[in-house]
Amino acid sequence: MKTFAVFGNPIKHSLSPIIHKLFAEQTGILQKYKRIYVPLNNFYEKFSDFIKSGGNGANITIPFKKKAYKLCNIYTRRAKYSGVVNTIKIMKSKEILGDNTDGIGLLKDLKNLKFINPKSKILLIGAGGAAQGIIYPLIKFGCSITIINRTYKNAKNIIKYFNNIKNLNCIKLEYFSKNLFNQLKYHLIINATSSSIKGNIPNIPSLIIKPNIFYYDLFYNISITPFLRWCRIYGAKKISDGIGMLIEQAAYSFYLWHGIMPNTKIIIKKFKKNYLY
Ligand code: ATR
Repeated sequence: MKTFAVFGNPIKHSLSPIIHKLFAEQTGILQKYKRIYVPLNNFYEKFSDFIKSGGNGANITIPFKKKAYKLCNIYTRRAKYSGVVNTIKIMKSKEILGDNTDGIGLLKDLKNLKFINPKSKILLIGAGGAAQGIIYPLIKFGCSITIINRTYKNAKNIIKYFNNIKNLNCIKLEYFSKNLFNQLKYHLIINATSSSIKGNIPNIPSLIIKPNIFYYDLFYNISITPFLRWCRIYGAKKISDGIGMLIEQAAYSFYLWHGIMPNTKIIIKKFKKNYLY
């Protein structure tokens, strides 16, 4: 039986093993899928142990996606462009193939939710690996993105990484005034910071909240996420957390490993039924 795993820190609450179990049942594929907790400085050792023990592929989550990119020796186009890897497949040749299914998974979920169209103007909060990993498919779809981040330099680095590509820019947090915000007319605001993990919200002025704008948090939780709670308090009406993205990205990983695309709609519905908000 083929063996897969999700590597991360923290990892205890990852839903990936449950999602992959549902995919396997749905498609009749036999696979093992486990969680692997990785101490912060041990990613390469843990991954190499997994390969030696016969691992066939993996998902990589916070905070190892950039490290995962470095250990691959071949890449899908979308992984190459984003510089971040969340899915690995060990090829028959033993080469390590890196893919990024986060961006395409997010785009699929945003389309399902009708939160996006090719002309959408997006304000992206955060400039870490999670933010970097989702930019390429959104720009390719036609959207324009402005990054805003606690540390301006990190936002600048992402712009540089994408070679100052058209439709991608960043703004300093301190220049973010009501006038400027109203002028820019964003359609969708995405929280890609890791602040929710510690129960915090990014330090962004509440002037970004309007009832007609869509708010999406890459983070997910059994109850409403801190960012979405904050959005709702200030009057947001159209909000979603990242559970749909999690399931969609997992489906693209499953497809890379097995060549079969699971039906995600039923599974997203099942997870959302358990929500408390
Ligand atoms: P990941 O690779 O998962 O995205 P990361 O590279 O550590 O994780 O990046 C986390 C992002 O969340 C960064 O943009 C970080 O801001 P800085 O660049 O200033 O470090 C942002 N972030 C984390 N905690 C935050 C908080 N409490 N408020 C605002 N931004 C936060």
